[in-house]
Amino acid sequence: MNQLFRKKSLSHMLAQSEKKELARTMSLMDLIFLGVGCVIGTGIFVVTGVVAAESTGPAIMLSFVIAGIACALAAFCYAEFSSAVPVSGSVYTYTYATLGELFAFLIGWDLMLEYVLAVSAVSTGWSAYFQSLLAGFHIQIPAIISSAPSVGKGGIVDLPAVLIILAITALVSKGVKESIKFNNVMVFVKLTVIVLFIVVGIWYVKPDNWVPFVPFGFNGIITGAATVFFAYIGFDVIATASEEVKNPKKTMPIGIIASLLICTILYMTVSGVLTGMISYTKLNVGAPVALALESVGQNSLAGIISIGAVFGITTVILALIYAQVRLSFAMSRDGLLPKKFSKVHTKTQTPFVNTWLTGFVAAGIAGFVNLTTLAHLVNMGTLAAFTLISIAIIVLRKKFPELKASFRVPFVPVLPAISALFCLYLAVSLPLITWVAFVIWIGIGTVVYFMYSRKHSKLND
Ligand code: ALA
Repeated sequence: MNQLFRKKSLSHMLAQSEKKELARTMSLMDLIFLGVGCVIGTGIFVVTGVVAAESTGPAIMLSFVIAGIACALAAFCYAEFSSAVPVSGSVYTYTYATLGELFAFLIGWDLMLEYVLAVSAVSTGWSAYFQSLLAGFHIQIPAIISSAPSVGKGGIVDLPAVLIILAITALVSKGVKESIKFNNVMVFVKLTVIVLFIVVGIWYVKPDNWVPFVPFGFNGIITGAATVFFAYIGFDVIATASEEVKNPKKTMPIGIIASLLICTILYMTVSGVLTGMISYTKLNVGAPVALALESVGQNSLAGIISIGAVFGITTVILALIYAQVRLSFAMSRDGLLPKKFSKVHTKTQTPFVNTWLTGFVAAGIAGFVNLTTLAHLVNMGTLAAFTLISIAIIVLRKKFPELKASFRVPFVPVLPAISALFCLYLAVSLPLITWVAFVIWIGIGTVVYFMYSRKHSKLND
């Protein structure tokens, strides 16, 4: 029993991170760009349309507020942890120090599912905008290779989604410095087109489109919040970069909170303008933002936005692959996953095998599963992680009162408790099938832990 809940010592972890296996090259600006780069993507460009059409109508703005509050509460916990324990692995590492090895392994296992499926989900959004862009030049990719079978458009594989993942994997495997530079440029492009959409689109808003404002009732808004939650996923990824950041104690909390704030403001504005420009009933399409602009005759701008979306979503794929690799790197270094995952390539200084494994699995899934199914599963995984990190903060304060974090969550234990309950409430709104798949994945993880990880854990040494 004791073995299952054995904990990694915080001082040991900090010492490990100081060995500097990964170079500390990222500044606060890099970090915020990584955060925004990872957060704004398929969620705002695609999922918004589906949710407005099927669950919320124009009240999607409220769903964004609700999902944003859940994230903000969790963000406080992330910020305290990442400033107190600035080592790789994020919530996985924090859980290891507070709740013990079994929980840490399971949350790591859960996050691996989240990140890999998020890479797949986001790339299907990329594919939709890429195709919308090509359509502007009258180029049509044959239906059979342009969507997953369950989308119902006669496709058998979403080839553009598969190919973009492989391309980004190649980039990440070449080294973090190059990837971050590439990321910064792309984020700039993405923010520019979003602001452009808002500034132009606002002139075409017809308040009539906002009536009825809540066509699907309060339940619709909550279901919508549990789905648009997807749009916020990624800010936690910043915490996984703490071993590569300069001055992590100060930089990490500011980076996390600033990224979340920027995204929330943009989401509310974009969804308001979008549902004001065109009736929500028409938004259930692959590229709703482009459609809204076309519907008011702004075809060239629709093209520009599609280019921006393609670039913008690319950064999300990049950051998520980066996060997945760093997480499995940390788990492998602790002995909970095979050594191959933490083997660093002598030339590129990156975990090469690990990166490519992530890319191949994500690409395989992206080709054949549709966005909504994937998004629900990703949200489930994330909500589970948020719940656990909220509980872990309470444990951290009780067990390690001497720990000095540069950022501290206010009103502990009330605020983290509200955070945990809020996340559970949203998770309950997800479909039953999502719960079933999640339980199966965690079941497999439990078997892996008892068959492999427990025996190979570095804590046995
Ligand atoms: N938040 C990320 C996106 O919306 C996953 O694409």
